[in-house]
Amino acid sequence: MGNQDTIYVTTPIYYVNGLPHIGHAYTTIAADGYARWHRLMGRSVFFLTGTDEHGQKVLQTAEGRGLTAQEHVDDLVVHWKHMWERLDIHYDRFIRTTEDDHTSRVSAVLQKIWDDGLVEKRDYEGWYHVGDEIFVTDKDVEAGKFDPSELQRLTESNYWFKMSAYQQRLLDHIDANPDYIQPESRRNEVLGFLRQPLGDLCISRPKSRMSWGIELPFDSDYVCYVWFDALLNYLTGIGYHPDADQAGDWKRWWPATYQLLGKDILTTHAVYWSTMLMALGVELPDALMVHGWWTSTEGHKISKSKGNAIDVSLLVDEFGADATRYFFLREKSLGGDGSFSYEGFLTRYNADLANDIGNLAHRGLSMTRNWLGGTVPALGPVSDLEDGLREQAGVSVLRLARAFDEMDFHTGLAALSELISAGNKYIDSTEPWALNKKGDTERLGTVLRMVLEVCHVAACCLLPVMPGKAAELLDKLGRTPGQGADTLIGLPERAGQGELSLDDLVVGSDVDPGDPLFPRIKELPASIAALFAADAEAEPVSKKKQKKSKKGKGRPQPAAQIAFDDFTKLDLRVGEVLSAEVHPQADRLLVLKVDLGESSPRQIVAGLASRFAPDELVGRKVVVVANLAPRPLRGIESQGMILAAGDEQVVDLVSVSADPGEVVR
Ligand code: MSP
Repeated sequence: MGNQDTIYVTTPIYYVNGLPHIGHAYTTIAADGYARWHRLMGRSVFFLTGTDEHGQKVLQTAEGRGLTAQEHVDDLVVHWKHMWERLDIHYDRFIRTTEDDHTSRVSAVLQKIWDDGLVEKRDYEGWYHVGDEIFVTDKDVEAGKFDPSELQRLTESNYWFKMSAYQQRLLDHIDANPDYIQPESRRNEVLGFLRQPLGDLCISRPKSRMSWGIELPFDSDYVCYVWFDALLNYLTGIGYHPDADQAGDWKRWWPATYQLLGKDILTTHAVYWSTMLMALGVELPDALMVHGWWTSTEGHKISKSKGNAIDVSLLVDEFGADATRYFFLREKSLGGDGSFSYEGFLTRYNADLANDIGNLAHRGLSMTRNWLGGTVPALGPVSDLEDGLREQAGVSVLRLARAFDEMDFHTGLAALSELISAGNKYIDSTEPWALNKKGDTERLGTVLRMVLEVCHVAACCLLPVMPGKAAELLDKLGRTPGQGADTLIGLPERAGQGELSLDDLVVGSDVDPGDPLFPRIKELPASIAALFAADAEAEPVSKKKQKKSKKGKGRPQPAAQIAFDDFTKLDLRVGEVLSAEVHPQADRLLVLKVDLGESSPRQIVAGLASRFAPDELVGRKVVVVANLAPRPLRGIESQGMILAAGDEQVVDLVSVSADPGEVVR
């Protein structure tokens, strides 16, 4: 286990065969949020990201551009770094696998495992997948797992890392460290994979076929396989060298706290990387955190080659880096998949940022300026309403801190949303405008002070997620980002001890509403709408016909009418969610236990994971179609359906406050 006060977090290093898209941005934003959170919590943090610059794919792209591989990567890397700058990504090192500092260390590692007898030269005859740059078994080819146009029959001599020797040790490690591969569904996937005999790993490519890589120190006719080179960045990036005399202080950071990766590269990390570390006698990282996939609205994989890559620059141009970061961290749980749409982005922006936090801040600050001279008022006597708000602040901060500690921004930000909604409701119930009219300045001061304090807690908590906007909000409240950080560091502990009394601001200091933090955006900006127009042009006519009218923008056509009798066939009931967990076979689905007032709870499988973290649902009252015939969903029986708003993507649940079992008509 790594030292809890030292955090080392990594992203995969990205291929520089194209420009960054939202998938890459997602991983990097999550790692950055996590690194910032821990820095703010006073821990020593090292955050490593970078680019994977060797291998066939990069070489092919370079050739396609009429450039040498080196010219090509030097040109593209600038765009990657620029993108991270635009997204306010604060990494400690950006590693490039073509840097001497990396290549010389990889070379030393290769020499070491060769000297240790862990590598063997063998003749190979079999299938090679050109796109993925891997050797594939006859069995997988026969099973049709690969596109035949990507397969090449090869006869070649190569160097093989004796990976198979580590199969049992790896199984034992996964067994003894249940958190090694997260979430659990991914751990199970790896265990399933390891049920088959593990083969050895080919770690060389003959230069005669592909020369863009690190030369093998023991055979100059070969270069190193790109994955073997790339995975080592996680060690070389912090100064590892197999020869202790030449190593930096990498042990200060290693083992990594979280290595973040998309589900597409699970095997390379869980199996190749783990066994490579074993071969080097280096401890395994504390955890591999595997995140889900972003798809386009139609559920397709987003990739440059499919031409549906979402332009992150456009999101930053139109909505700003902070809103973009917020969206990705709030919108879906890390492990689950999510489908991206610009309209979904706009909905989230308006709901959470413009309406909730933006509105709370603007209301509180404007009323303070208009009625109390624009300075922080003193707290007078407090009532149950203020106590309730303090309690909510404590609960939200604790849940947020626990979730952020584990990189679960989705749950953490949902907890913060509850506090912000409570703040807005508090304004509605205390009616400061009426207090002002009555001239009850003392009560008015207390109410607005509470509102400003909630904004302050929110600004502090948002520092790792929206560093720019959080600093702006702090400034409006008369505080600097440094003061916000000083407050943040103590918040979780104070919340845990029930001491979050919401009185951190300094009475009499100036506040200023200025411009709204997140102005409401009524419709998609022209630059984005233009993309849709281009898409619509390219769409087949039949699909175009299904497009919605202007009024029902973004919504499906109304369904055909039904008779009243048909409607009465539905048995709709109020239910209360007792428990929720991610479906072991599908990250998109949650398995819920719901109390319908019957003798035992119902088990319901629902596609809610991209919108809700399991914890968020526990205790919620929902509306259930109770007489839907039970059916298995990915192997688990679902005994009903939960009503939710949203078409392809769930926006919210239909909720009621009646008792479980109550009929809904
Ligand atoms: N170069 C390898 C990684 C080597 S790490 C030692 C690679 N690069 S990549 O450019 O293809 O980036 C892969 C990573 O980008 C994924 O694991 C994931 O983190 C992120 N994403 C790329 N597309 C994605 C989505 N559509 N959705 C979410 N993340 C995805 O593989």
